[in-house]
Amino acid sequence: MSVMYIRGGTPLEGELAVHGAKNSVLPILAACLLARGPVTLYNCPKLTDVTAALGILRRLGCRVKQEGHTIVVDPAGASGCSISEEQMRSMRSSIIFLGPLLARMGEAHLTYPGGCELGPRPIDLHLSAIRALGCEVSEDQGIHCQGRPLGGEVQLALPSVGATENAMLCAVGASGSTTIANAAREPEINDLQSFLNLLGARVQGAGSSTITVEGSRGLHGGEYTVMGDRIVAATLLSAGASAGGRVRLSGVDWRHLATVLSVFHQAGCRVESRLEYVELIRERNTPLKGVPTIRTAPYPGFPTDAQAPVMAALAVSQGCTLFVETMFDSRYRHVSELIRMGADITTEGRVALVRGVERLHGAKVEASDLRGGGALAAAALGAEGTTVLSGLSHIDRGYEELEEMLKRLGADVERREV
Ligand code: UD1
Repeated sequence: MSVMYIRGGTPLEGELAVHGAKNSVLPILAACLLARGPVTLYNCPKLTDVTAALGILRRLGCRVKQEGHTIVVDPAGASGCSISEEQMRSMRSSIIFLGPLLARMGEAHLTYPGGCELGPRPIDLHLSAIRALGCEVSEDQGIHCQGRPLGGEVQLALPSVGATENAMLCAVGASGSTTIANAAREPEINDLQSFLNLLGARVQGAGSSTITVEGSRGLHGGEYTVMGDRIVAATLLSAGASAGGRVRLSGVDWRHLATVLSVFHQAGCRVESRLEYVELIRERNTPLKGVPTIRTAPYPGFPTDAQAPVMAALAVSQGCTLFVETMFDSRYRHVSELIRMGADITTEGRVALVRGVERLHGAKVEASDLRGGGALAAAALGAEGTTVLSGLSHIDRGYEELEEMLKRLGADVERREV
């Protein structure tokens, strides 16, 4: 098992280019199934979730090559229409292959995606979107879908990111046109739209609540650069706020981080947002202040994925901060670990009250989900003494070599086999 040794107490100081976005590259990889020619993707992060997605593409008959941060997918020979239970379980996002499979093959056989550490994550919205596009869906010992998509009206009961993407991907291969109402507005959906249009699709409206897709357009290959990861950026800024010092990040659009930056500004950090970079400065002897209620919400609201890292930073502050997690049932699993480090946090259902303390101390803690893991690393950098962080398999799903990123910012971090 590997663990991270994190010695806290040293202010961070440095610059870093944020790697490509996990939540962008996964639907884009699934979208490659829709193309007839090879697709070259740049800025692909090296993450275990990406490896899982490449495994699924290979199983479906695509040729896949990964070299550094570049991935080439040649979908010409794709012929499979089923994904194994093991692959479906390997990551929650495996469900994103449903739409493209139906668009390409007119048939898809899947099992339910992996159980999730954030609480129940139903896929009802994905399935009703697929039905609205004219495919038959039966749920009998797995998910079995038949029929080439015709297009239609998709009304999402909630602006689900994954269901919006699945509907877009299925609709691109439909014979008619589609309107998706109450679509999610996350920046990763804009990235998917740009990618699809580059391959010859006609998708419009990403970033708004209504997306339209003109079907029956064969997609060709192409080259595309995946957007930077705003959640990795939020985590590194949280680490800077926690440890103090100066963190400058490039490769990410600060406008995608507006709600997170506003929290750090209110907490007393200096934040500078430029086209080329975003920078956070916290003077070592200026403690953070508690901020008004942080309520997670779909984009452009405060991202649920940034809740844990920002909470880790605010655990050491003057005053209190109330968090309300509106997106997922079980997203406070980092709290018990922060308490081990000396934090004063109480939770009740979806509400967490953080009473800022003067300092945290190092402890043995375990990540039990991806962003909770990033949060514990951020907390450890501001704590006194050494933290031993385990559960790194969660972290590796979404942060490419987190310890190396932190080291480049001047942190004293080491990954060791124990
Ligand atoms: C995506 C992100 C994840 C982020 C989340 C919310 C990816 C790969 N993952 O996940 O990092 O935390 O958005 O910003 O992009 N829901 C249903 N039925 C469904 C689908 C969703 O009830 O069929 C509910 C979920 O339980 C949740 C809410 O809708 O309460 C939002 O989930 P959704 O936007 O679908 O999240 P994901 O796409 O899974």
